[in-house]
Amino acid sequence: MNTLQPADPESVFTYGAPQLKFGKGASDEIGFDLSRYGVQRVLVVTDPGLSATGIPQRVAEQMAQFGIEARVFDGVHVEPTDQSLIAAIEEARSTGPWDAFVAVGGGSSIDTAKAINLLTTNPGELMDYVNVPVGKGQAPPNQLKPLVAVPTTTGTGAESTTICVMDVISARVKTGISHARLRPTLAVIDPVLTLTQPAGVTAASGMDILCHALESYTARWYTTYEHKTPDERVPYCGSNPISDMWSEKALSLLAGSFRRAVRHGDDEQARADMAMAATFAGMGFGNAGVHIPHANAYPIAGQVADFHPKDYPADEAMVPHGMSVALTAPEAFRFTFDASPERHVRVAQLLAPNAGMPTEASEFLPTVLADLMRDIDIPNGVGAVGFGEGDIPDLVEGTMKQQRLLATCPKEVTEDDIAGIFQRSMSLW
Ligand SMILES: NC(=O)c1ccc[n+]([C@@H]2O[C@H](COP(=O)([O-])OP(=O)(O)OC[C@H]3O[C@@H](n4cnc5c(N)ncnc54)[C@H](O)[C@@H]3O)[C@@H](O)[C@H]2O)c1
Ligand SMILES: [Zn+2]
Repeated sequence: MNTLQPADPESVFTYGAPQLKFGKGASDEIGFDLSRYGVQRVLVVTDPGLSATGIPQRVAEQMAQFGIEARVFDGVHVEPTDQSLIAAIEEARSTGPWDAFVAVGGGSSIDTAKAINLLTTNPGELMDYVNVPVGKGQAPPNQLKPLVAVPTTTGTGAESTTICVMDVISARVKTGISHARLRPTLAVIDPVLTLTQPAGVTAASGMDILCHALESYTARWYTTYEHKTPDERVPYCGSNPISDMWSEKALSLLAGSFRRAVRHGDDEQARADMAMAATFAGMGFGNAGVHIPHANAYPIAGQVADFHPKDYPADEAMVPHGMSVALTAPEAFRFTFDASPERHVRVAQLLAPNAGMPTEASEFLPTVLADLMRDIDIPNGVGAVGFGEGDIPDLVEGTMKQQRLLATCPKEVTEDDIAGIFQRSMSLW
């Protein structure tokens, strides 16, 4: 089944998750929850688009009845950059000290709040903690303050994970900070807050959920790694029985509700299912890890020249995270198929329970994925967001820098393999 043969196979896997509150009205209880931590001054972290809906202000106002002073910072950059994070950290340092942080928004707001929390409780600067080779990869010496993460997109699962993702502009690469201390203290998932999510954001962030579930389910199995010592253990430990369970459930929810949530944003059941799918997939991938589609997404997003997706801020070229992940997913899974055929077939069945199996089993997942992407208006491949054949060497170089993610791939992957995946992903249908 797997081509990776360790001399001393791993026998241990780990699972971590934050405290969680889920359901309609859950966000009305944040003031109460924070009052139990004895906090008095709270910074609410959000982006301008979300600020315009009034949701973050409502969350802040509701804390007053518990004697908490809450200030809204709405300077989050959609898809944070190193510079936007540094600016947010400086703002929080100059207006602090803060007893706790509440992130209200998508992955962009939650990740910005993680960076603010880290750098207002620990010494040094952002790059000290960013993953090597881009940063110094240091571990934070101090405990962080309580962080409540309130997702308003149905996508990243950032409310459950230990990572903070950013675009490092000077290096033209997306990377991040990864440490257990970054995990939010409490995740509050209130599907009502996702009803205003525009269709384009629902489609892109939903593809993020889907790829989290698919990649963690097809990730390298945890026993195929060399045995680690306790201090070598990392949050991503490969697919395992617990992450499998979350991924499978997430896929079934997506099968029932993804298209409906994109087409009928006011469908509360579809929104609730998507919120639950995002949470479940986050719990899965946050422990198992993701592989090629996510590794490819980083250079796609980091090197885009001129693409302006519907329903996102129009001032800068961007490929939203979920969209950038989706663009090479069908080809990536065609490539990984032979590492675990039964797993690839199983996820295709979960995602499209009524679809017949094609003659070639390896075509099942790529076909089901492309059908869905076409239905919800995801661009037709990397060519459709402005890349050409001549860009492939730079894209491949960017992917090969994501060794932390490629290490989760269920089979060996070379530069030529990645180049082939980009080549065949120029157009998907
Ligand atoms: N930390 C992690 O574990 C993790 C995992 C995956 C992705 N990410 C990162 O998260 C970011 C993407 O986050 P995202 O996809 O959640 O979206 P986002 O936070 O970038 O938001 C996208 C857009 O949707 C708008 N929006 C969000 N919720 C809305 C609502 N309810 N109503 C109206 N508008 C709303 C925002 O204003 C913004 O313009 C990327 O930077 C990505 O790299 C992080
Ligand atoms: Zn993702």
